[in-house]
Amino acid sequence: MEFTTDILSLFDKKWALVTAGDISDFNAMTISWGAMGTLWSKPTATVYIKPVRYTHDFMEANDYFTISFFEEKYRGALKILGTKSGRDGDKMAETKLTPVRIGENIVGYVQAYRTLVCRKIYRQDLELSPMPEAVRETYYEKEAPHTMYIGEIVGIG
Ligand SMILES: Cc1cc2nc3c(=O)[nH]c(=O)nc-3n(C[C@H](O)[C@H](O)[C@H](O)COP(=O)(O)O)c2cc1C
Repeated sequence: MEFTTDILSLFDKKWALVTAGDISDFNAMTISWGAMGTLWSKPTATVYIKPVRYTHDFMEANDYFTISFFEEKYRGALKILGTKSGRDGDKMAETKLTPVRIGENIVGYVQAYRTLVCRKIYRQDLELSPMPEAVRETYYEKEAPHTMYIGEIVGIG
């Protein structure tokens, strides 16, 4: 497995889609926070999903998730998927993205130039108390803190 990238701009500047569920029932949302590295001697990817997101329900219910990366021309699609909720309707239908079944309960996209298939190996709700005060005030005045999901990267497509 190989993935060469500028890791510091990958999530922050280029964004990605996190998708969980089965091709018959899945949800996806845009993320710009994330990490890649090593944990317990496994290659891992970490994402942070707020409990209020519909995608959170799918992350909780499924053992796998994918992280998909797209060329700049798909930014409009990522904006839609990052501002609308799957709870309110079929936001995927408002994009030109084509979801594709990669495996059982594993969904990616025809248009993604890279897809990480992740097996959930850890989850934790971030706690407010160890956070810097400025972070608490900026991000968590109104909504509960993100849940951190660490996935073992089991495939790169
Ligand atoms: C550029 C961008 C980055 C985002 N990054 C995150 C993130 O890392 N974690 C998160 O919980 N929400 C993030 N969001 C917000 C969700 O994508 C957004 O709330 C989305 O509508 C949730 O959809 P859902 O309710 O269908 O899951 C981001 C939104 C945008 C536009």
